[in-house]
Amino acid sequence: MSHPKENSNEMTSQDSRVILKTVSRGHYRLFSGGRIGNLYLPNRLVRSATWDPSILHKQKMTDEVLNLYRELSLGGVGMIITGGFPVFKEMMQKTESGKWILNFSELKVEGIERLVKVVHSSGKDCRIIAQIEDGRLNARPSSISSPFSKRKFRPLTLQEIEDIIDCYVQGIESMKQAGFDGVQIHAAHGSILSRFLSSYANRRGDIYGESPSNRVRIIREIVSRARRLVGDFPILIKMNCTDYLVGGTDVDTFPELAKEIEKAGIDAIEVSGGMWECLVRNEQDLGFRLVPAPESHTRIGNPEKQSYFLKYVEKLSLGIPIILVGGNRNVDLLEKIICQGKVDFIALSRPLIREPDLPNRWLEGRGKPTTECISCNSCIFNMHVHPNSPEPGLVVCVHKESKSLHRQAQRWLDSWVKEHTLPN
Ligand SMILES: Cc1cc2nc3c(=O)[nH]c(=O)nc-3n(C[C@H](O)[C@H](O)[C@H](O)COP(=O)(O)O)c2cc1C
Repeated sequence: MSHPKENSNEMTSQDSRVILKTVSRGHYRLFSGGRIGNLYLPNRLVRSATWDPSILHKQKMTDEVLNLYRELSLGGVGMIITGGFPVFKEMMQKTESGKWILNFSELKVEGIERLVKVVHSSGKDCRIIAQIEDGRLNARPSSISSPFSKRKFRPLTLQEIEDIIDCYVQGIESMKQAGFDGVQIHAAHGSILSRFLSSYANRRGDIYGESPSNRVRIIREIVSRARRLVGDFPILIKMNCTDYLVGGTDVDTFPELAKEIEKAGIDAIEVSGGMWECLVRNEQDLGFRLVPAPESHTRIGNPEKQSYFLKYVEKLSLGIPIILVGGNRNVDLLEKIICQGKVDFIALSRPLIREPDLPNRWLEGRGKPTTECISCNSCIFNMHVHPNSPEPGLVVCVHKESKSLHRQAQRWLDSWVKEHTLPN
């Protein structure tokens, strides 16, 4: 990690005047090392998974993505979690014999190892974890008709669950072979695995449903089968502490579910929340503005609205590290959270889109203790619109650069919610 004093001989007199006004936070616990499984992280700041449309569109690594990851690692973050890589094909495919099959082998991203190399060669000790997730399936644990899309999904058969497990195991093994420092299983926000964990979405009466232990079974199977191939390679999970749905995971049921996840052999839990279906509820009921990403709250300038999943971790009593994501915006507040001892790592997505070097800025005490990100979610607009463009690039922040794009994004966010969720 760079420190103003270490670099002082390279500074101009003008730079030193600026530095004199800054106060290093090198003594903060936030900037001390930590461990996840066998992995050492140089500090407690993690880049939370942030989808890269250009990689997935082209299925090959692009220079602009490599440059972004280089910039992030030089910016001082201790660990980067990649955007989600699908481990099976977008939709289940029907074979000639009429069977539904899932397929991992066609999903390789050409040159994926370059992403690892660029981070490891930055000289900053930054770690890189591959997030793995499902492609969108036309089947779910149970055939709950979604009030959100009004679409019915057929329930997965036991054979299909086996196939899903197999694809995740292959995904974990291939990420180890590509050189990643670990994987994160995406089991939040409405992904297929989050639907197994949720008591709202999973109404199965077989070994994969009902009790928390049964709902976690699919994760247990993935981890135990993967361990035979990858040993103690770090396997993390991102899961919901609340689905924001009546009958789903909530502040009271989350601790038991998290305990089952720990027992499954997971190395760290990133605590997130929100299922897409919650967007049919209204703003007063939910306590946040409806946007097409219930995990990414807007209007969180006020410190009380920040770190919005913190209250859900307070009842946890686990022996594995907790990574807190969602609205982490003020370094002094985050230091307090780390010092309280319930949270081990702090994850950030939108602030690092705006300022990839935010960890260094905070460490060196440059500027305000908050982030430049105003949580307007223009980046979410960007992410939704990109995949439809012929050359999808990176997800970027536009709120300062282009007022008209910012306004367009805000209009799109509002109309998306109206179009998809109202009236019921
Ligand atoms: C542009 C964008 C892309 C995202 N992509 C992913 C993803 O691929 N996987 C995932 O689990 N979460 C994804 N998220 C959610 C973030 O990881 C994070 O949970 C959420 O934005 C709240 O954190 P923040 O307040 O620091 O942005 C994405 C968020 C944004 C804004």
